[in-house]
Amino acid sequence: MVQPLRLGLAGLGTVGIGVVKIVQRHADLITARTGRPVTITAVSARDRTKNRDADLSGYAWEVDPVALARRDDVDVFVEVMGGHEGAAKAATEAALAAGKDVVTANKALLAHHGQALAEMAEAAGRVIRFEAAVAGGIPVIKALTEGLAGNRIKRVMGVMNGTCNYILTRMQNAGLPYETVFEEARQLGYLEADPTLDVGGIDAGHKLSLLASIAFGTKVAFNHVELEGIGNVSIEDINLADEMGYHIKLLGVAQISGRGLEQRMTPCLVPADSPFGQLQGGTNMVMLEGDSVGQIVLRGPGAGEGPTASAVMADVLDIARGLRLPTFGQPASTLAEATPARSATPAPYYLRMTLLDKPGALAKIATCLGEAGISIDQMRQINQPGEEDDDAIVIFVTHKAAPADIDHAMTRFGNTGVLVDTPVAIRIEEI
Ligand code: NAP
Ligand code: HSE
Repeated sequence: MVQPLRLGLAGLGTVGIGVVKIVQRHADLITARTGRPVTITAVSARDRTKNRDADLSGYAWEVDPVALARRDDVDVFVEVMGGHEGAAKAATEAALAAGKDVVTANKALLAHHGQALAEMAEAAGRVIRFEAAVAGGIPVIKALTEGLAGNRIKRVMGVMNGTCNYILTRMQNAGLPYETVFEEARQLGYLEADPTLDVGGIDAGHKLSLLASIAFGTKVAFNHVELEGIGNVSIEDINLADEMGYHIKLLGVAQISGRGLEQRMTPCLVPADSPFGQLQGGTNMVMLEGDSVGQIVLRGPGAGEGPTASAVMADVLDIARGLRLPTFGQPASTLAEATPARSATPAPYYLRMTLLDKPGALAKIATCLGEAGISIDQMRQINQPGEEDDDAIVIFVTHKAAPADIDHAMTRFGNTGVLVDTPVAIRIEEI
């Protein structure tokens, strides 16, 4: 008789309950596809008394996820608790040490400990799978490790935090300021318990670092991701960018070149009519660029019970089928040390500043740009109607410039004596 694949499920929140529902609802389909049943033998969460919208009566309860991970009747430890230390790390390590395969949705855990865990898994002859950790329901890990395995990957780009994309598109569509929409997102339950993980770009940075490791064969280097959140994106910049044919997105870019590995997760202007520019609400999108395939774009739900559990189950089904791949697409011992890029790839920049509306003010700013080696592509001055003596908002779009030169120019602006407020510089990402 064919042996079932037995899961130990640690975490019965949004994702965990989604996994329970798929295991129960699609038992026949899973058996047909893998040739063996997939069952849950034991579960763990903090509060046993909580009403969880699923029938858990057939499963053993473990108070301690580490004990769950070590159970003899568990083949695969499914970690959907979250957090990069504490129970998630301890139980994942315990599972590998006890000879279990691991499926996790936990990007924070892998961004911080991915290399050590991958080495541990390989030494134990086990696998760690994490499709759900990046872009929720979008099968982007599978696309990179399998579908594009014959390509040298040139670039990975992505909008990978649904909450940030919701906030930015809502600001744009409703003309509302950041603070108002942030509060709306909180009321809707979109924000992580620690909102800075979302709006600080950290969650998306975790995801980018995992994709970069697979794409470029390098050790996960989350500590080298240039991170900037969306908290300083103003409705003013969203509107002015829109008038110029751009939308503002929290965009992740990873690419490798002679300069080293570039990883950044920052607000960027993207063409409004591009796939990224068109992306609305909580949806995620990832663009993968390979030397043979060219560019492919994957779009879909990046979070939520069904989409995330769908990705967890894809990993479980692979294990049930006997598909065993190294964690980051190649043996952990062969992953190279990621050398952070000495300087980022030059790009055009959007600059906004408010100047005293007096003779010579603009010339002083133009001089700063020239002295920093930055060439102006477009310039616009916006005066308040009917108030000729007021301050003037000035927008520049530069030709491609090195980020260090932009920083240099921004410092010089401050010494001109013509600035009314702090100038803004946002990279324009070429898609
Ligand atoms: P969640 O709703 O907060 O659920 C977490 C679950 O883990 C809860 O059932 C909680 O128990 C349990 N738990 C936490 N600490 C525990 C501990 N020390 N011992 C035992 N159980 C513990 O979280 P989630 O949204 O399902 O997310 C789970 C993981 O998936 C995270 O790594 C997250 O980043 C990732 N993820 C989530 C989504 C999404 O859309 N939600 C998308 C992609 C990836 P109680 O219920 O008793 O409190
Ligand atoms: N907080 C994350 C997001 C959840 O908004 O995309 C999915 O990882």
